[in-house]
Amino acid sequence: MILVTGISGGLGGLIHRGLSARDGLDVAGGTRSGDGVRARRIDFDDPASLAAGFHGVDVLVFVSAGYAEDDVVLARHGAVVDAAEAAGVRHVVYTSLARSGEPLTIAPPHRWTEARLAAASFEVTILRNGLYAEIPAGLAVLGAATAAETG
Ligand SMILES: NC(=O)c1ccc[n+]([C@@H]2O[C@H](COP(=O)([O-])OP(=O)(O)OC[C@H]3O[C@@H](n4cnc5c(N)ncnc54)[C@H](OP(=O)(O)O)[C@@H]3O)[C@@H](O)[C@H]2O)c1
Repeated sequence: MILVTGISGGLGGLIHRGLSARDGLDVAGGTRSGDGVRARRIDFDDPASLAAGFHGVDVLVFVSAGYAEDDVVLARHGAVVDAAEAAGVRHVVYTSLARSGEPLTIAPPHRWTEARLAAASFEVTILRNGLYAEIPAGLAVLGAATAAETG
């Protein structure tokens, strides 16, 4: 079985819908609250939910949950890796960041997670995704507002 985390979000939702549309794949999803039907309860901040939620999972599509201070993200991503190892997951696909090795402010949690995954007992695929469209678009809007304000 393939389990996709964060399916209530933009990226996880797209991945989950894409995989579910394919014939012959057994696909499950997770959200922090879970609904017991479409989504298992997978809360990276609650290790008990991970132990139960990863039961029977062969391939875990691990969508990062990065909207927090770095120490919080490291703790939650570490808990995901620990629980996946304990549950016998065979392969983890992690959504990281392009240029994660460079000194970008948003890179350290991804770099740490990649290293923790590389040391784990399962197979790993790292997807180094480029910046999502809302980031450059948001910066452009901010820049335009500042320009209009200051002339
Ligand atoms: N490369 C980039 O430019 C870029 C840009 C933006 C974000 N990101 C990263 O990519 C991820 C996905 O982006 P997105 O646009 O799909 O974000 P999104 O729409 O805001 O969705 C975030 C997802 O993460 C889940 N989540 C948050 N905290 C969690 C936790 N503690 N445990 C388990 N799940 C948790 C949420 O689940 P619930 O709804 O159940 O809370 C939600 O499904 C983000 O979380 C962020 O780490 C990367």
